[in-house]
Amino acid sequence: MSAPLRFDGRVVLVTGAGGGLGRAYALAFAERGALVVVNDLGGDFKGHGKSSSAADKVVEEIRAKGGKAVANYDSVEAGEKLVQTALDTFGRIDILVNNAGILRDRSFVRISDDDWDIIQRIHLRGSFQVTRAAWNHMKNQNFGRIIMTSSAAGIYGNFGQANYSAAKLGLVGLANTLAVEGRKYNIHCNTIAPTAGSRLTQTVMPQDMLDAFKPEYVAPLVLWLCHESCKENGGLFEVGAGWIGKLRWERSLGAIVRQKNHPMTPEAVRNKWENICDFHNASKPHTIQESVSQLNDVLRQIESQDVSPNPTSYRAPAFSTGFDSAKFVGQKLSSTQYEYTHMQPILYALGVGMSTKDPDHLKFLFEGSDGFCCLPTFAVIPAQSSMLDGGLSSVPGLNIDFTKVLHGEQYLELYKPLPTSGRLTSEASIADILDKGSGAVILLDVYTYSGKDLLCYNQFSVFVVGAGGFGGKRSSEKTKATVNPPNRKPDSVLTDVTTVDQAALYRLSGDWNPLHIEPGFAALGGFQKPILHGLCSFGYAARHVLKHFANNDVTKFKAIKVRFAKPVFPGQTLQTEMWKEGNRIHICTKVKETGEIAIAGAYVDLLSTSSQPEVKIPSALASGLQSDLVFEEIGRRIKEVGSELVKKVNAVFEWNITKDKKTAVQWTIDLKNGSGELYRGPARSKADTTFTLADEDFMDLVLGKMNPQKAFLSGKLKLKGNILLSQKLETILKDYAKL
Ligand code: NAI
Repeated sequence: MSAPLRFDGRVVLVTGAGGGLGRAYALAFAERGALVVVNDLGGDFKGHGKSSSAADKVVEEIRAKGGKAVANYDSVEAGEKLVQTALDTFGRIDILVNNAGILRDRSFVRISDDDWDIIQRIHLRGSFQVTRAAWNHMKNQNFGRIIMTSSAAGIYGNFGQANYSAAKLGLVGLANTLAVEGRKYNIHCNTIAPTAGSRLTQTVMPQDMLDAFKPEYVAPLVLWLCHESCKENGGLFEVGAGWIGKLRWERSLGAIVRQKNHPMTPEAVRNKWENICDFHNASKPHTIQESVSQLNDVLRQIESQDVSPNPTSYRAPAFSTGFDSAKFVGQKLSSTQYEYTHMQPILYALGVGMSTKDPDHLKFLFEGSDGFCCLPTFAVIPAQSSMLDGGLSSVPGLNIDFTKVLHGEQYLELYKPLPTSGRLTSEASIADILDKGSGAVILLDVYTYSGKDLLCYNQFSVFVVGAGGFGGKRSSEKTKATVNPPNRKPDSVLTDVTTVDQAALYRLSGDWNPLHIEPGFAALGGFQKPILHGLCSFGYAARHVLKHFANNDVTKFKAIKVRFAKPVFPGQTLQTEMWKEGNRIHICTKVKETGEIAIAGAYVDLLSTSSQPEVKIPSALASGLQSDLVFEEIGRRIKEVGSELVKKVNAVFEWNITKDKKTAVQWTIDLKNGSGELYRGPARSKADTTFTLADEDFMDLVLGKMNPQKAFLSGKLKLKGNILLSQKLETILKDYAKL
């Protein structure tokens, strides 16, 4: 058993310790060796009168038990005097419990100035006065523990307690700042909102509650928070009846309601109200810095909007003749957060048909199993809110009719196996908009990060029925293309029956579209009954490949591309035909009952397959830098269109990518000689321009989060050689570094 928490030699000042909670704290501290100043003015609970008897009685009680205590009868408003008693008697002050309090309950309009003022004076000003008097002593000795006493009335509001609520929540604000200011002096300040039977509560609590909610059930929290071994600082706790809970702020993801070059309007606020108040995936900011950084991010996003200053173009319906898709390409959506525990990957695995019937599925279904992991295709879940939850719909001017939207294709590339729990951030942008005649296709690129670590890339192809014919281009080099399977019988086939509740189960992973569960809604969409989510069939197909060719080893999974060709109904049998071509497994998923193709042009890329020797992960990847992925992609593109680039650029670029301020890797992009080349290491011929920057900054640059000019001016990007040539850099990175 760990050692009991002792307070020997510590000097504790408890205000309002003549009764109720304060008395319980004073007795508990004294019992554990503390030297206690028992302060109490000794008036009635409304703040009238005074007497020394309350404090004296508690001091006697402590002394009778062999403890050490001294009384003080001043009002907390005379803070210095209270602290002086501690210094005069015991020579120091270590712990301060601001507890004294009174009530002047009245309905709001009946509160007199006096009722208002006295409550602020005793609770808020009193705590300020005593704390300020103690502060420098604590600072000089590099130790201090302070408790503020708030109330559920302040946190939640309570009829008839406007004055008291204001003061009590004021104390939380005071404590928050003291926690920040005191941290470096080892002064911790925490706040409690207690519930206990006492003189203050006897008018509102029935006798049995008064007896049951003992002050002794609050004191242990106060003692722990005040112990030298407790690291808690700036916390707010509700406590009573033997229960303790911590409170924190939660903030919805919110919505941007302002557009660059447009006035911000109340109508825009109204239109986004649901998003503003939606606590789905809410964040929990802890510091003012976290809070403000969100606003900087918003400014950046608004600044990067490329919208016409002419307000009429904003109102013009999108996708009509003259719709200018170029305006939207490159536009970033608000980043989205996805927080999950082991439950979501398990729910997802069940959603895509995994079952405990298959023993090797256990590692996807039981958090306690050896090698518990996420199915690779779970990576679409954190990213999908960019498409679903107000993502695309929040792009100003892009007026999509969401009843006309179909999920056309999906590409997913995984750079690391997904953690089984955590908090991921997804950054989405519109990669391109295509005109397919009968409809428009929006390519949405979504990068998902864990902290600064890039985990995966998703490309959603969203087909908007009837939105084509605006005169846009039909294809894009940004599309991750589908590939037809080889013209031979499949190498293997796996089948799986979906259950009638498959869609009902899958939707719990976050795609709540009623099309997949509500017959009436499905009928509106022209379906005889609710259909299975395309991404659910996608999950089935991927796990068929993973099982057959990679022994369910998720570290072997690299990427998947599918086109959703026909709907599947829950209860139907999915049959995945597979063709192995090196590390690429082509797939075609059919509905067995009808023979119809549900998933076409699809493939899964594995890093290696179980039926052949392990393929080495490219050495560049092994170095662990995120920028390696981009350089590899640049290398691939140079192989495809190098000579064209040599003509355009005609320069040799050398890169020093740094990690922890040291050069971690060098790359050369030679777009001058032959048909171009990318290689690791310094330039073999003379480099025209040399760039030096950190791995993370390189990623920000490539992903468009950082502007090269600004990076240069701020010193994050260092340039040597022909600086003018660096202007060509933006084109290369934008067009050729797509992961
Ligand atoms: P209590 O009335 O038993 O204790 C408060 C003590 O503070 C009294 O002994 C009183 O004489 C003393 N006091 C009042 N004004 C003073 C002043 N100006 N200077 C020095 N001492 C003064 O009440 P209880 O319930 O023990 O309350 C303690 C604290 O807990 C108060 O701040 C109260 O607002 C807070 N609180 C209590 C709750 C409860 O359920 N008991 C609920 C929420 C908050």
